[in-house]
Amino acid sequence: TISLLAVALAATHASAQDDPCGEGETVIKFSHVVAATGHPKGEAAELLAKRINEEMDGKACMQVFANSTLYDDDKVMESLLLGDVQLAAPSLSKFEAYTKKLRLYDLPFLFPTLEDANNYLASDNAKELLSALDAEGYTGLGYITSGLKQFSANKPLELPEDAAGLKFRVQTSDVAVAMIEALEASAQKLAFKEVYGALQQGVVDGQENTWCNTYTQKFFEVQDGITETNHQLLAYAVISSQDFLDGLDEDVREQFLTIVNETLAEANDNVATQEAECRKAMADAGATIRQLTDEQREAWVSTMKPVWSQFEGDIGTDVIDAAVAMNG
Ligand code: LMR
Repeated sequence: TISLLAVALAATHASAQDDPCGEGETVIKFSHVVAATGHPKGEAAELLAKRINEEMDGKACMQVFANSTLYDDDKVMESLLLGDVQLAAPSLSKFEAYTKKLRLYDLPFLFPTLEDANNYLASDNAKELLSALDAEGYTGLGYITSGLKQFSANKPLELPEDAAGLKFRVQTSDVAVAMIEALEASAQKLAFKEVYGALQQGVVDGQENTWCNTYTQKFFEVQDGITETNHQLLAYAVISSQDFLDGLDEDVREQFLTIVNETLAEANDNVATQEAECRKAMADAGATIRQLTDEQREAWVSTMKPVWSQFEGDIGTDVIDAAVAMNG
C-alpha cells in the first residue's frame, strides 16, 4: 500500500508540474490542429499560454492542445459552446456553417501579398466581419494570419491545365470547392489531421496550404513538389464563447483580452519570417519548389478568379470592393 501511495503521489506531482493550472484558477483550454512549434498559429498559442500563465497566475491559466490532440476544427466549434474548451482558432474557411460573410477571405487572389492581407485583417472592416459570429454565441477576439497558400500535387504543376483531372483535398469551404472545380479538378473536403494519410495513400492527389503547414505536417514528403501560386489566404479567427467571457470577473476579462490582443499583434508581425523559414527548410529538405513566370501565374489567376461572382451575394460586393481597395 505504501509503495502504491508513493507511486500515486509521484504521478500527481509530475502532472502538477506540467499542468499550469492551480486550484481556484479559471482554466482556459485552447485547442488547435497545427504543430506547436515552427508554425504561426502554434507559436501564437504558446506565446499566449506563456503570458497568461505568468501574468494571470492565481486567477487564470491556459492549457494548449496542439495537433488535433483534443478536437478537430469541426468539433471545436461545438465544444466551445458546450464549455469544453474556451478558446479556438479555426481557419476562416471553416466558418461557412456559421456565416457566409467570412467567405470573403477564401476568394482566390484577393490579397496579392501577405502584407496586404495583414493590413486588411488589422482594419475596422475586418473587425466588423468577425461580429457576424456574435449571433451564434461566439465572440471573435481577433485574427492570426498564417500565410498565402501554395498548391502541391503528385505531379508537376506549372499551368492550371496540369491540375485538370486531379483530386485535391480542401477545407470545408464551398469557395475552395468552386476554385478547384474551375481548374477542372475535383475537390474533397477532409479534416486537416487526415491530409497526410490521404496524400500518402493516394486518396487525393494534391492539396493547397501555407509553407508552414506543408512543411510541419510533412505533406511535401508525399508530393512531387510545391508550386508557388500564392493563390489564397490562410488565416484564423480567434474565438471564444460569449458565455465564457460573460462569466469572467471584469478585471480578469479585461486582462485576458488585453493579453490576447497584444499577443496576436506580436504573432502577426512574425508570420512572414516564419513562412520564409518553412519554405527554406523544405527546400533544404529536398522538396521541389516551382516558381511561376508572370504569364504562368496570370493563367492561374484568370482560371480561378472568376469564381468570385458565385459568392458576391453571400459576401456583399461592397465588402469585396472595400477589401480590394485596401490592397497596396
Ligand atoms: C487546414 O485545414 O488546412 C488548415 O485550416 C489547418 C490550419 O489550422 O492551419
